[in-house]
Amino acid sequence: MKKILLLGSGELGKEFVISAKRLGCYVIACDKYPNAPAMQVADKALVFDMLDGKKLSKTVDETKPDFIVPEIEAIRTEELFNIENNGITVVPSARAVNLTMNRDAIRDRADELGIKTANYKYAHNKDELIKALEVIGFPCIVKPVMSSSGKGQTLLNKIEDANLAWENATRNMRGDRIKVIVEEYIDFQSEITLLTIRQKDSKTIFCPPIGHKQKDGDYIESWQPENINKEILKKGKYIAEIITKDLGGYGLFGVEFFITKNDIIFSELSPRPHDTGMVTMYTQNLSEFDLHIRAILGYPIANILLLREGYSTVIKADGFEKTRFKYNFIGIDKALALDDVDIRLFGKPEAWNGRRMGVILSKNRKIGHQARELISIKQKIISN
Ligand SMILES: Nc1ncnc2c1ncn2[C@@H]1O[C@H](COP(=O)(O)OP(=O)(O)OP(=O)(O)O)[C@@H](O)[C@H]1O
Ligand SMILES: [Mg+2]
Repeated sequence: MKKILLLGSGELGKEFVISAKRLGCYVIACDKYPNAPAMQVADKALVFDMLDGKKLSKTVDETKPDFIVPEIEAIRTEELFNIENNGITVVPSARAVNLTMNRDAIRDRADELGIKTANYKYAHNKDELIKALEVIGFPCIVKPVMSSSGKGQTLLNKIEDANLAWENATRNMRGDRIKVIVEEYIDFQSEITLLTIRQKDSKTIFCPPIGHKQKDGDYIESWQPENINKEILKKGKYIAEIITKDLGGYGLFGVEFFITKNDIIFSELSPRPHDTGMVTMYTQNLSEFDLHIRAILGYPIANILLLREGYSTVIKADGFEKTRFKYNFIGIDKALALDDVDIRLFGKPEAWNGRRMGVILSKNRKIGHQARELISIKQKIISN
């Protein structure tokens, strides 16, 4: 029985644990708070801060896993290199996890590999930001080099927005490096995630492209397949293969691209299942989580079949005054009565504004939206 140490126990981790358990793995789920989604389905749960390198290495020494599977970016990645050197497989590789944790590292690497991206420049302070804005021009996007789900991102139309963008980025960044990236705004027709699977004994394979929409940089809805021009898709696959090969290791990667009128532009990638890929739980014979565990264990993937079209949309907590609260879902019964609707409720112990609490899976956008309208989150009144 293979032992997996899962670093990060969110909703993607939870589905991954279910897939891993189905193939007989023993899973220890870690996160910085108790009863996180993946902990609810794992064999064992450990609560600690994964940015603490010493604690991380102690946990690995004590648990002796076969695989370390990072589910989040906030991990002391330097420690992962030591762990890998001690013979434990980091999925997909310590290098991949390390380079993708920071926007600048993966962007620089893409550049070195000759992969086209939006024009960009870095800035370490407000003066550098103003210079960078003058070079990149408007509109453009300023992002902290370390953040996720659109946190700290600002779309700028004029130089006067510089102060606001700097404050937003530095207030919402993660980690301790004060550095932002200024990116040319790509007026894309659509954006896609190309789920890319690197296998040990077989060639790299891809899921049909997933189209998605983000609001304020955060995932709102996705669908599969997104129909894009054959030549453009071919180019996307070529780029995804180059960059994932460079990062190394085995597993599933979510490679994000912008599609313009005649081209495909690399945006970023996750060396793990992607939030937009949750739609594969509805559409494919093997979900992105099933594919990830198969690739990790070195099992064959005979084929990836798109069984039907599908759509997914998130259920977020919104419009509450209290910062953290216990909650109930309302209307799940009504939503499930709609034609072929499925739902994943993540089981997060507490909600707050903007927190992703569940996802709706359906056959099209119309039904997905109907289901979304029927569901609400209600704050639980706790008497004491
Ligand atoms: N240069 C750009 N031009 C146009 N839109 C952009 C650009 N950069 C980002 N966006 C928009 O913002 C979204 C989030 O950006 P990005 O993927 O870089 O951030 P993120 O915080 O890492 O998101 P996540 O980790 O959740 O994927 C993109 O999916 C896209 O919709
Ligand atoms: Mg992204």
